[in-house]
Amino acid sequence: MQIDFSGRSAIVTGGANGIGRAMAQTLAACGAQVTIFDLESTPSVDVTDRTSLEAAFAAGPAPDIVMINAGTAFIRPIPETTREVWDKTIALNLTAAFETLQAAAGRMRAAGKPGAIVLTASTNSYDGEENLIAYNATKAGVLGIVHTAANELGPYGIRVNAVNPGLIRTRLTADSFNTEPIIKEYFRAIPMGRGGEPEEVAKAAVFLASDWASYITGATLLVDGGQMACKFGPWRDSEAEFRDGRWQRR
Ligand SMILES: NC(=O)c1ccc[n+]([C@@H]2O[C@H](COP(=O)([O-])OP(=O)(O)OC[C@H]3O[C@@H](n4cnc5c(N)ncnc54)[C@H](O)[C@@H]3O)[C@@H](O)[C@H]2O)c1
Repeated sequence: MQIDFSGRSAIVTGGANGIGRAMAQTLAACGAQVTIFDLESTPSVDVTDRTSLEAAFAAGPAPDIVMINAGTAFIRPIPETTREVWDKTIALNLTAAFETLQAAAGRMRAAGKPGAIVLTASTNSYDGEENLIAYNATKAGVLGIVHTAANELGPYGIRVNAVNPGLIRTRLTADSFNTEPIIKEYFRAIPMGRGGEPEEVAKAAVFLASDWASYITGATLLVDGGQMACKFGPWRDSEAEFRDGRWQRR
């Protein structure tokens, strides 16, 4: 059986770049009619603006699949996490995620059809990576949205799940990926020995949105090369070397 979304409409927030773009491409490759809600899409949609969000939903059919993925991060230690940084992070990663879910579920219910909603959380939903306190708080909060929405929407046949990516190569993380000393040490803690590609997250999200996941709701799926499975990682200089952007056994 192949994943076949023919005749289904999908929305991806933050779908103009990075993980969201890969989600949109993968959904389309499976036959879905995909609409992107993004500041950089045409027309532009600002998911933090309720009017803009509502207008975007009103312009299309009730969706079968919604991927709530738009998000950002500001790297700041606690003393430099200003109220502005905090508010901007909450507005996009948490409030807009809630309002998108609320609007999506409302339309699915009004149309009387089942649906699948996938949110992009993070490994930072679980850990306290330094200099990311606002981001980490929002991504932990996303799990609260997933669990509560799965509970309330299950009776309507609407499934709600999350993917939890580790470090994925996008513009958000380009500085890290372009600095070998940083990734060499970061990837030491990852059993797969490397960072992830947006397509690897997109495939997990598409699985969760598909009928193959028909009994899965309220779940979180780590897409992190095993990072959260271990404390220190398996890569030691005595047996391995960092080559071509990843750890490899000698
Ligand atoms: N890259 C990683 O390592 C990583 C890891 C874990 C989780 N994530 C999460 O994945 C999601 C996507 O991140 P990415 O790395 O692909 O980032 P990205 O910056 O490449 O893409 C984010 C997209 O969101 C859009 N966007 C930003 N503000 C918006 C708004 N107000 N309205 C509509 N669209 C808006 C941007 O225009 C952009 O197209 C985020 O939620 C992020 O927190 C990323």
